[in-house]
Amino acid sequence: MTKKAVYPGTFDPLTNGHINIIQRSAELFDEVLVAVAKSSGKAPLFNLEQRVEMANESLANYANVSVILFDGLLVDLAKQNNANIVVRGIRSIADFEYEAQMAGMNRKMLPQLETVFLTTHSDWADLSSTLVRDIARHGGNVSNFVPANIAIKISEKLG
Ligand code: COA
Repeated sequence: MTKKAVYPGTFDPLTNGHINIIQRSAELFDEVLVAVAKSSGKAPLFNLEQRVEMANESLANYANVSVILFDGLLVDLAKQNNANIVVRGIRSIADFEYEAQMAGMNRKMLPQLETVFLTTHSDWADLSSTLVRDIARHGGNVSNFVPANIAIKISEKLG
């Protein structure tokens, strides 16, 4: 059976922590779909198209990784794309509680969709997109936390 994984998130912006999860997923699974969620509720800094474009640029070298956007239920996206696995990164116990709940609800809606948790590499355990945006807004250097193309886009956006 082909192992097609979907890695969903808001990716506002994609960080090195996300890249690490994607890199490892690309080795574990035949295909990885990075699914950029509209997440209107989070009022993202970058709009959906910008987040997809930035992710595409950063992930161009991964042959079995593609980027798609979505604005609906994750289980519907998985069905439409014949994905049988959801990947999520876990940084802490706090992440686990929220993630386990989402995995459980997704299983109730689509039992054949398996959720796989990858523990975040210790280098990126404290990282979040919110903190990256906050550091950048206050004039800090985020180039150690995001891919180079994204650091440029952030500085263009925030001046
Ligand atoms: N390294 C660094 N940061 C990481 C990380 C890692 N390995 N893994 C997660 N994060 C951070 C993200 O940067 C993000 O930070 P932020 O909150 O500061 O922006 C945070 O952890 C988690 O956000 P994200 O991964 O974008 O997930 P989310 O919680 O915003 O979105 C969806 C989760 C989009 C997957 C979920 O809402 C969803 O499936 N939505 C579709 C609708 C649906 O099906 N709902 C029913 C679900 S049961």
